[in-house]
Amino acid sequence: MALVDRTPPRPSSRRGGAAPGPRLDVERIRRDFPILATQVRGKPLVYLDNAATAQKPRAVIDAISAYYESDNANIHRGVHALSIRATEAYEAARRRIQALINAEAPEQVIFVRGATEGVNLVAQSYGRPRLRPGDEILITEMEHHSNIVPWQLLCEQTGAGLRVAPINDRGELRLDEFERLLSERTKIAAFAHVSNALGTVNPVRELAGLAHRAGAVVLVDGAQATPHQAVDVRQLGCDFYVFSGHKMFGPTGVGVLYGRRELLEALPPYQGGGEMILSVTFEKTVYAALPARLEAGTPHIAGGIGLGAAVAYLSQIGYDAIAAHEAALLEHGTRVLGEIPQVRLIGTAAHKASVLSFVIDGVHAHDAGTVLDQLGIAIRTGHHCAQPVMQHFGVPATCRASLAFYNTTEELDVLAAGVRKVCEVFGV
Ligand code: ALA
Repeated sequence: MALVDRTPPRPSSRRGGAAPGPRLDVERIRRDFPILATQVRGKPLVYLDNAATAQKPRAVIDAISAYYESDNANIHRGVHALSIRATEAYEAARRRIQALINAEAPEQVIFVRGATEGVNLVAQSYGRPRLRPGDEILITEMEHHSNIVPWQLLCEQTGAGLRVAPINDRGELRLDEFERLLSERTKIAAFAHVSNALGTVNPVRELAGLAHRAGAVVLVDGAQATPHQAVDVRQLGCDFYVFSGHKMFGPTGVGVLYGRRELLEALPPYQGGGEMILSVTFEKTVYAALPARLEAGTPHIAGGIGLGAAVAYLSQIGYDAIAAHEAALLEHGTRVLGEIPQVRLIGTAAHKASVLSFVIDGVHAHDAGTVLDQLGIAIRTGHHCAQPVMQHFGVPATCRASLAFYNTTEELDVLAAGVRKVCEVFGV
């Protein structure tokens, strides 16, 4: 299946045009996603809410159905054929994810419910036994609530303090401030790879280097990065990296915590239960080795297998082609929305993923979203679980169009026409 045309693209005639790269056969790719051919409110669906959750290709839907239809059994527990097949499929998914992020070993890929659970696991298993009053956790102003609240809970539990590195008015992290806030008190630095509300891509390697020089352990929230770009956890130099399956075209309810081996091995279990033990008596329980030690209970087997299928699908397309297409989409979307006088873009970082957050003068984001929905256009409106970002920009909410590799410039034109319609409806 040729989803990518590897002949060199024609050079962009526009200054600042998208980086050259292999071109996607987008029309063909769209046929892999059944939902994209559907209608909503009598109009062709224009799905631009990918940062909330991405759509699923047939390969993922089929992998989940095939597991339930042909292989359904619990894993790691049975000697019967179905259990062996299910276990093999689940562990093959782990190995695919290991390869995708270049983890050293499959057991450093811990299946969790999603990025949120990954952050909470690290906060509670790594942070709680170690942090003391006077210690500090450094995060950034652009974090999603899932990379704020678990650290606040940890601060309440341990007496540690939370420090926040600010962003500038383009939505970029202030590196000088991040560096200034690091000290020997900083035990953990946690930050997004890509901001869900702004699209800003953080210089993870540089931030990790600064944090390590201060002696801190680094957790990266990669939930918004893995749908868009190659992630090499070793090259990034992070200690922990978390992401969610559903944002990268896999199922909901499954995600990954990657960790450096010595750190994962030193973590006390996050939860107790079946699967995570070697032996249990009422006097003493001996825990299993990684990854089982951190994966108590029956996991989301279909989810893991579905995520493996999503990773295989993404790998087949390739992140170079995805990045080139999305850069062109971002450029187009920025231009067509920027041509509407009532629109103000929120988040204009130099290094940005394909997220277009904006406000429309005189129209609340939810009202705009409701009109756009009538036109078959799905965007997210609200604070995007990043209220401090809204506070920074002095807005209660934004409209957010978040793009995936199956989106097209024509869909962005439909969005822009929809936004003009919103302005007309509300007389602004
Ligand atoms: N974190 C998801 C978003 O940005 C839900 O929409």
